[in-house]
Amino acid sequence: MITSTLSQQLRKAHHVVAFTGAGTSAESGIPTFRDALTGLWERFDPAQLATPEAFRADPSLCWGWYEWRRQKVVQAQPNGAHLAIAELASHVPKMTVVTQNVDDLHERAGSQDVIHLHGSLHSPRCIDCGLAYTLPLASYDLPAEGSRIEPPRCSACDGYVRPGVVWFGEMLPEDAWSAGLAAAEECDVFLSIGTSGIVYPAAELPLRALGNGATVVHINPARFDISSQEHFLEGPASVMMQSLLRDAFG
Ligand code: APR
Repeated sequence: MITSTLSQQLRKAHHVVAFTGAGTSAESGIPTFRDALTGLWERFDPAQLATPEAFRADPSLCWGWYEWRRQKVVQAQPNGAHLAIAELASHVPKMTVVTQNVDDLHERAGSQDVIHLHGSLHSPRCIDCGLAYTLPLASYDLPAEGSRIEPPRCSACDGYVRPGVVWFGEMLPEDAWSAGLAAAEECDVFLSIGTSGIVYPAAELPLRALGNGATVVHINPARFDISSQEHFLEGPASVMMQSLLRDAFG
């Protein structure tokens, strides 16, 4: 199924980047950002929930939505794609995982030093002074979709604690962005897995990799246009990553 050229390139690669998006976690049952707005959340626009202004206007509505998403992640398990990505690291000299996802499924599958371009559901901080909130977050039965939950307060300044994700209109964390960019420019194989590639600046990474001569492979069940130098593996991330691994390393 996988071309032998691709397997060969993976075998001789020095540095492989796995760049992942919502599609990589889809098979773990994590709804994508837009899919997450179902049920009682259906009447909300993402822009009403995922901005600093939205949080300040209605902290418990916003926090309730993110806590609902975080609970979904806590209850989910890494899927075959996360596991194959983690295993790939043991076959190549250097591997970097750069994700747009705010879950921790790569880490739980065994990937190390994962670069989170869009932050994480698991690293809340104070919206006013930025202090990391280190107390364990409440663990409860999945709150009913639509539940408001009062956010905790910062121990230093009493500000509200906000989710550690990147919201619309916010900058990407500088360290993550520069590390992701450096990996894209240095790698020789760049696997773009389960991402629509339309959200910038993250979507610039495959272009940077291509511009620097890397083999760029898109893995997605939904076909989209690519340039003649890129490759497309059409199918679910778990299936395609497992067969890429098998074809390249047996
Ligand atoms: N395997 C691989 N890809 C899949 C699968 C699957 N099983 N299921 C769906 N996909 C693909 C879809 O075809 C789509 O191209 O995953 C992609 C998901 O696209 P988006 O929802 O746009 O997710 P992503 O690319 O991660 O979006 C980037 O946008 O919503 C914001 O901040 C959020 O990080 C997110 C960013």
